[in-house]
Amino acid sequence: MRSLITYLGHSSFSIKWNEGYILIDPFLDENEDFFENSKITHIFLTHGHGDHLGVSFELYKKHKPKIVSAYELNLFLNKNGVKEEDLISINFGGYIPFPFGKVKMVYALHSSSNLQYGNIVYTGNPCGYIFKFEDRTLYHMGDTGLSYEFKLIGENEKIDILLIPIGGFYTMDIDDAINAVKMIKSEYVIPMHFDTFPEIKSDPVSFKKRVENETCSKCIILKRGESF
Ligand code: NI
Ligand code: MN
Repeated sequence: MRSLITYLGHSSFSIKWNEGYILIDPFLDENEDFFENSKITHIFLTHGHGDHLGVSFELYKKHKPKIVSAYELNLFLNKNGVKEEDLISINFGGYIPFPFGKVKMVYALHSSSNLQYGNIVYTGNPCGYIFKFEDRTLYHMGDTGLSYEFKLIGENEKIDILLIPIGGFYTMDIDDAINAVKMIKSEYVIPMHFDTFPEIKSDPVSFKKRVENETCSKCIILKRGESF
């Protein structure tokens, strides 16, 4: 099974596998359907902020995927119409088996909430996910600041592809992301969470240059819709 990964903008990625697509943080335009003629089997959410929850509810209605996230975020989804049987609530711990491989929820230094009827709702710990497919290991960091936790991941895992926020303001900026890359030591690095809003304007080309000069990783800049 070869897992093809496609960048959908901001922190959204899809991964193709035998039975359809896995989506991470689907912050997509409601009117465009990348997946019109295909099946979304799973949606993974790193936290409850709107730019990560995205069009999860709309895609859920169309595709009925399993939605995987923190217990409290899934409670929020359940209160807003996602059936309990379609929710897989996980937490920090070991690898969890899925039909496409296994997944581990890992630390992210951020916050997680959403609004319900005008009230702020706590939606659990924010997180990242490590996906172990047959042919590669992929780590989506979610929204996170720099943390020494990443050194532990670098020591214990062999990450092939790292999806890393570089936009600053709400997450790591380029300086911090370079430090994280040095700790995680993945073969490839793909920048995300930049240029979507004025606050997170960044320069992926200078990030790429620094990755290649200062770390052992290679950097791939994906444009929206491009695959790796
Ligand atoms: Ni966020
Ligand atoms: Mn975000």
